[in-house]
Amino acid sequence: MNGDPTHGPTDETHSDTGSETGSETGSEPGSGTGSEAIALGASDTHGHRLSAGLAIGGRVVVRYRLAEGAEAAATDFVGELVARDADFLIVDTKTERVKLIRADILAAKAVPPPASRPGRPHERVSADDLEKLMAKGWQPVDRGGVGDWVLRASDGFTGRANSALVVGDPSLPVDKAIDFAEKWYSDRGRPAIFQVHGEAGFDPAEQPTVAALLDRGYEIGGGQESWQRVLVMTGPSAAVPPLTEQSAPVTADAELQLDWLTTYGQQRSIVPGATEAVLTGSDGQLFLSVRDPESAAIIGLARLAIHPGWAGIFGLWVHPDHRRTGVATTIVSAAAMVARENNMPAMYIQVSGDNAAGVAFWTDLGFTVHHEYTYLAKTSA
Ligand SMILES: CC(C)(COP(=O)(O)OP(=O)(O)OC[C@H]1O[C@@H](n2cnc3c(N)ncnc32)[C@H](O)[C@@H]1OP(=O)(O)O)[C@@H](O)C(=O)NCCC(=O)NCCS
Repeated sequence: MNGDPTHGPTDETHSDTGSETGSETGSEPGSGTGSEAIALGASDTHGHRLSAGLAIGGRVVVRYRLAEGAEAAATDFVGELVARDADFLIVDTKTERVKLIRADILAAKAVPPPASRPGRPHERVSADDLEKLMAKGWQPVDRGGVGDWVLRASDGFTGRANSALVVGDPSLPVDKAIDFAEKWYSDRGRPAIFQVHGEAGFDPAEQPTVAALLDRGYEIGGGQESWQRVLVMTGPSAAVPPLTEQSAPVTADAELQLDWLTTYGQQRSIVPGATEAVLTGSDGQLFLSVRDPESAAIIGLARLAIHPGWAGIFGLWVHPDHRRTGVATTIVSAAAMVARENNMPAMYIQVSGDNAAGVAFWTDLGFTVHHEYTYLAKTSA
């Protein structure tokens, strides 16, 4: 159906991001900062405007002109952007699918997932919505779906990009959905791995999907300690300490550079092709790094994924010779500065429950556990 004037305004006309109205109409995703690397410092408050743009699958608000004689001049449609072309945007709102003529769109912008409970922006999102958002921060090379479940494959590079994200309604009975996912993975010559989440301290076996997987011989954690329990921690970008005059310089680059990738590859296995595709596959990302002033080698790095209202940090790492000197704090301070300047009040990270240093680091910065997830895989496969 189309956005004709008989539709009343939705009850969600706000933006949690506080970003300007009138912006982003028809903008393409991934505008980022351009190809120039930027040095971030204590006095640096300009020059890194970012936008995640209007992405298919993202949540948007569209201000739409109503016909003359209507009770109001315009109304807002809020929902998932499911298609776009030169003439139309198609949006699934809570109640209907609307086809909006571009000529009558006064403004459109991406907005964060809705609040599902009271709290600050980093607290009030539901675990399902945050999982779906985080999946866009780490896009797989190959993607499929069973209802709301997201099937991801990336030649084995990371659990997140090679597992079925069990979220929402699979639109099939659980056993049939698992059959579908298993076939999808077997068609690609990959083992089926499932990512399931719950509240902090949840018992996965109590979930019907997990019970069905256990019956089929899957194991919680899939035989890997770091997969047993992964914490999703969130915090406000406003609470992260600012950069100071003493902070090491941080470089932010919208492009993936070879020395960043090489350093990243020193600490984890990479899969040529798939790794670059995943690292650069989101609607917007920044590659942050700190260098040794003498050797100029990268001694600390992270990747920032950009979402409407949210910033995600992936791959934070500091060379062992430089730990406990504040390098990671400096990188996160730079990331939070970028987040604050770009209407991203909430930040997320994912850290294995067995990573004591990582958990201590994020706790020290005021991050708290939003929810947890675990992977299920067959160890005998
Ligand atoms: C976690 C990691 C990034 C921390 O980097 P770092 O540069 O040493 O961190 P900082 O010096 O900025 O530490 C800031 C604070 O975090 C906490 N912290 C950091 N490492 C810690 C550790 N090993 N044990 C306990 N607390 C720790 C402390 O409160 C520390 O302050 P302090 O040194 O004044 O006590 C680093 O240990 C690392 O690269 N680990 C391997 C990769 C990893 O686990 N990344 C995190 C994944 S989410």
